[in-house]
Amino acid sequence: MAKIFAIESSCDETACAIINDKLEIESSVVTSQIDVHSRFGGVIPEVASRMHIEQISVMVKEGLNNQKVEDMDAIAYTIGPGLIGSLHIGAAAAKTLAFFYNKPLIGVHHLRGHIFVNELIEPLTYPLLALVVSGGHTELVYMRDEDSFEILGTTQDDAIGEAYDKVARILNLEYPGGPKIDKLSKLGKPHYQLPTPKVDGYNFSFSGLKNACLQLEQRLKRNGEELIGEDLAYAFQEVALHHLLDKTLKVMNDYEVKHVLIAGGVACNSRLRELMSENIKDAKLTLPPLKYCTDNATMIGVAAFKEFNRQRFVSLDASSMPSMPIDK
Ligand code: KG4
Ligand code: ZN
Repeated sequence: MAKIFAIESSCDETACAIINDKLEIESSVVTSQIDVHSRFGGVIPEVASRMHIEQISVMVKEGLNNQKVEDMDAIAYTIGPGLIGSLHIGAAAAKTLAFFYNKPLIGVHHLRGHIFVNELIEPLTYPLLALVVSGGHTELVYMRDEDSFEILGTTQDDAIGEAYDKVARILNLEYPGGPKIDKLSKLGKPHYQLPTPKVDGYNFSFSGLKNACLQLEQRLKRNGEELIGEDLAYAFQEVALHHLLDKTLKVMNDYEVKHVLIAGGVACNSRLRELMSENIKDAKLTLPPLKYCTDNATMIGVAAFKEFNRQRFVSLDASSMPSMPIDK
């Protein structure tokens, strides 16, 4: 049975896992730096790299879980996209293991990991549409088969998670703001009117919506009126998530889509999951469990098998790619 040892370090989680070719998770460990970054209101790249350096050896040891590197058939790591310093630490660890134990090395695209982890839930059916929503990405990825990736739509400014985090700051909520807005909005009522983003095609835009939240807060302050946080959270979330849903439905109207899935940190959002369940009618829908939405190494291992099965390996001098396109 083939086994892959996988490492993820693209942002602020250091993670390792062992996956076998039956897609069984033999081990999976994740450590998050979120408590440190929340003090700064967002991920500080230099701090993230240093914390990866502190964590990586411990995570490799724990991730191996008493198994031997000699028994692995390949070493996989996130080659991009992500923070360059963070990517380098995972790459250095993976390359050291691959060199020392003479194992093939697999460079995995982070977003392919977010997509393919859904195979742990159910088989993927093509053509497939993935709505990838995280702190750094907002993408509609169309896949005719498991080796074809077409970005039909992307954000023209802020990523959806970034917009959540910025609006959370207006509401004095700590980073990461997404989960807090998700919770707060459940107490909110339709009260504030915010503009629906207008963007061509299947693309997204969130900066106008974020600015509208800021302007509303400033106007109320000037007038000596109280801002009702729950109601702003509600209004922002409804507009932002309907924007995601509308573009997803637009693709489904124009393309053949047999399977829809959501992926990335914002896929944890309870209202997004509700909206998708209510509105995706003509295709299979996968809503991954929350532990597979946030960054982990299991997803890198699952995506690595796609490369392994095609014998697509990278060399020890492969460069990490902070803005790697998904079709590369
Ligand atoms: O995928 P992820 O863990 O990291 C990367 O950006 O790659 O995503 C983190 C983002 C943050 O912006 C966070 O606020 C957002 O996902 N997020 C959420 C929720 N949980 C996490 N946004 C909305 N609702 C949530 N429940
Ligand atoms: Zn991610």
